[in-house]
Amino acid sequence: MDVAEFDKFADEYHNLHQENIRITGENPEYFAEYKIRDLTRVEQIVGGEVNNILDFGTGVGNSIPFLAQYFPGTGLFGTDVSDKSLTLAKERFDGFGEFSLFDGKTLPYPEGKFDLALATCVFHHIPEEKHIQLIQEVSRSLRSGGAFMIYEHNPFNPLTRHAVNTCSFDENAVLLKRVQVAKLFVKAGMEVVMQEYRVFFPAFLKLLRPLEKYLTWLPLGAQHFVVGKKL
Ligand SMILES: C[S@@+](CC[C@H](N)C(=O)[O-])C[C@H]1O[C@@H](n2cnc3c(N)ncnc32)[C@H](O)[C@@H]1O
Repeated sequence: MDVAEFDKFADEYHNLHQENIRITGENPEYFAEYKIRDLTRVEQIVGGEVNNILDFGTGVGNSIPFLAQYFPGTGLFGTDVSDKSLTLAKERFDGFGEFSLFDGKTLPYPEGKFDLALATCVFHHIPEEKHIQLIQEVSRSLRSGGAFMIYEHNPFNPLTRHAVNTCSFDENAVLLKRVQVAKLFVKAGMEVVMQEYRVFFPAFLKLLRPLEKYLTWLPLGAQHFVVGKKL
């Protein structure tokens, strides 16, 4: 994607997103919190203390308040190639963490700074040829044993594909299958330690949501995640 693509959508990102997922009966906060709750399970896998978390492709900072809620006292760092999105993230969540512009190549953080990193709905906006190099750059910023969670839309889910096909900020999106993300981690030199399909039931079926933890193998969830661990 063009580096400034999300500068165009920054102001209206929240409303566009809200409109796009209306069919699910949920708001953007539901999905943001869901992902961060999953990240708390990754924390148990990495072992050791979690002092600093990187939100790669933080956008307007939607994950930040939930990171603050579920990882209290942890240093939170959001980075993105969209300066305008970062300005909004700072306005919305001033005091929650630090937001820094990413030049697309070298993250503005020292080696080994982070215990956990996450990228939620970011990689489908990045050209395929850059994926491995970017995962390696995030890995550089992780401590040994640290983990990187990539959360993506599931191209096998027809409702997800419909939502992406009708969303203006997804115009150039190229969805990634779970197996593709797992292969990227391996090619980038990380160990795949977790991979699940997630988000199965819309709001009108919310009584069924306790079953979701048994369905993580089923390629029908609206989203999926893969976690790579730095060896
Ligand atoms: C759909 S938004 C998701 C934002 C946020 N992660 C969330 O879940 O709300 C995708 C974000 O990825 C960012 N992005 C695109 N290419 C990037 C790159 N090469 N490095 C970092 N961020 C990138 C965009 O600027 C945009 O803010």
